[in-house]
Amino acid sequence: MYNKLTLGGMEQDIKEWYVDYPQLKGYLMEHTCHGDKIIIPGCGKSLLAEDMAKDGFTDIWAFDYVQDCVDFLNERLAQEENSLPSGCNLSYSLGDSSNMDNLEDSSIDVVLDKGLLDAVVTGKSQLLAQTYVYALQQ
Ligand SMILES: C[S@@+](CC[C@H](N)C(=O)[O-])C[C@H]1O[C@@H](n2cnc3c(N)ncnc32)[C@H](O)[C@@H]1O
Repeated sequence: MYNKLTLGGMEQDIKEWYVDYPQLKGYLMEHTCHGDKIIIPGCGKSLLAEDMAKDGFTDIWAFDYVQDCVDFLNERLAQEENSLPSGCNLSYSLGDSSNMDNLEDSSIDVVLDKGLLDAVVTGKSQLLAQTYVYALQQ
């Protein structure tokens, strides 16, 4: 599905893969807490993290290995910052799911993967998928 957004004065169509926050909300309310430390690997240009933050989730880090996605979301964050609840810790950065060695063990409560694992599994390397899943288990 596509969201129409205005960013830097320009209207853009941004792809949200599979489902959006309203569709996921019931599941997230059932299985997570608002204060959980949540990571969203392979965030693309998805507004999922932003919508979750606006709805009360307080600690979200989303990353992608494509610089353009991270730049887009950081620009969007700067534009939307005043709409986020105070004390909310939402950040976007460049990151590669096949190398998450710098994450401390048991430091994450929830991994919200929407479209990354299947992209990796259907790609060339099964090893990359295994490395990613192994890292998440830590
Ligand atoms: C199918 S898109 C899903 C995007 C977003 N999660 C959504 O639901 O709209 C997959 C995303 O994973 C990212 N990606 C693929 N391999 C990655 C990796 N090893 N590390 C980080 N991001 C990766 C791609 O750049 C792309 O943005």
